[in-house]
Amino acid sequence: MNRQKILVTGGAGYIGSHACVELLQENYDVVVIDNLSNSKSDSLARVEKIAGKSLTFVQADIRDKQALSNIFTAHDIYAVMHFAGLKAVGESCEQPIRYYQNNVCGTLTLTEVMEQFGVKKIIFSSSATVYGEPDTVKYTEDLPVFGATNPYGKSKAMVEDILKDLAQADVLSNASKPWEIVLLRYFNPIGAHISGLIGEDPNGIPNNLVPYVSQVAVGKLEQLSVFGGDYPTIDGTGVRDYIHVVDLVKGHLCALNSLGKGSGCKAYNLGAGKGYSVLEIIAAFERITEKTIQYKIVARRTGDVAENYADPGLALRELGWKTEKQLDEMVADTWRWQSQNPSGYE
Ligand code: NAD
Ligand code: UD1
Repeated sequence: MNRQKILVTGGAGYIGSHACVELLQENYDVVVIDNLSNSKSDSLARVEKIAGKSLTFVQADIRDKQALSNIFTAHDIYAVMHFAGLKAVGESCEQPIRYYQNNVCGTLTLTEVMEQFGVKKIIFSSSATVYGEPDTVKYTEDLPVFGATNPYGKSKAMVEDILKDLAQADVLSNASKPWEIVLLRYFNPIGAHISGLIGEDPNGIPNNLVPYVSQVAVGKLEQLSVFGGDYPTIDGTGVRDYIHVVDLVKGHLCALNSLGKGSGCKAYNLGAGKGYSVLEIIAAFERITEKTIQYKIVARRTGDVAENYADPGLALRELGWKTEKQLDEMVADTWRWQSQNPSGYE
């Protein structure tokens, strides 16, 4: 029986809460640190309900060194899953200092304290956004991490660089207990736990497609603006690789299993390897919800690429991971969460 203890930063958030469920169900002990800047502790109560097990929650900021030290003193942490971060692209353009401060300085404080306590295993939530705008639509991990178009994306690329440097320093010094780091580059996580108890609960008007469409379906928003109808794609609208959040967090469990066998820093794409257009997403919602989704095609959104999807082959070969859930299941689970919780956790 597994009793390793995992520190989950940002565990009250959308992806972190699903990771906590999966970890508890796989018999890990879980400690969450979250400052609740973009979440509510209700999500953790629901995690415990789903898993039928309890976790430890510390409400604190990852930039608070003392709070982190207290956690590492009180708990024998095996590894850290690092989800805590700010993630709104538009907001990051308006508030770059806040984004760099939170995402970059937060990770520096976290890794500094981890190193002090000799806990040197970390799985980091990165993003396909670190690839910028490459000349290909199918992204492999060996593409340069270059040209992210906004401070949010740049903060992810910076953190990747910092983590690679930590691993490299241990190689150079032949450290007896070297860093083991996995960078997971997410494509577009959507969906929710099948129970309908936890899911994505964005603040205000959603920026991302699927939360927006589901709020149109539930009647909270009137009409979707489709950003661009003249892209060189199957139907002129943007194509993305959507991945069920439960598949995504299972990728983290596989990454966790890969630790303890060596050293270094390795990046993996977590995506399905297949793209869907905005109109295909709308059609799937109409099919599953039996509602009409009102939309209009408007100008392209600055910073958007026409199409991208993952080459998920490396994660399959090295982590033994691939997605299992198809689009209709992603939409049905999103819809269950949205329709049962029209105002999110409130
Ligand atoms: P989320 O906002 O729902 O969760 C992030 C959590 O971190 C929140 O609960 C928030 O309160 C907490 N947090 C933020 N800054 C903190 C700090 N300084 N100290 C303590 N807690 C802090 O976001 P999510 O969708 O669950 O994303 C999780 C991670 O995955 C983020 O790092 C995000 O950038 C990354 N990511 C998300 C997506 C996506 O589409 N959702 C895509 C790629 C990468
Ligand atoms: C966006 C971010 C990316 C971030 C990810 C998860 C940008 C440029 N990219 O990715 O950095 O990691 O979210 O937070 O913001 N769309 C509409 N109408 C909408 C919303 C979206 O047509 O109201 C379209 C977009 O043009 C795109 C697709 O839907 O073609 C998906 O958009 P979105 O869900 O925002 O994800 P990304 O743009 O891939």
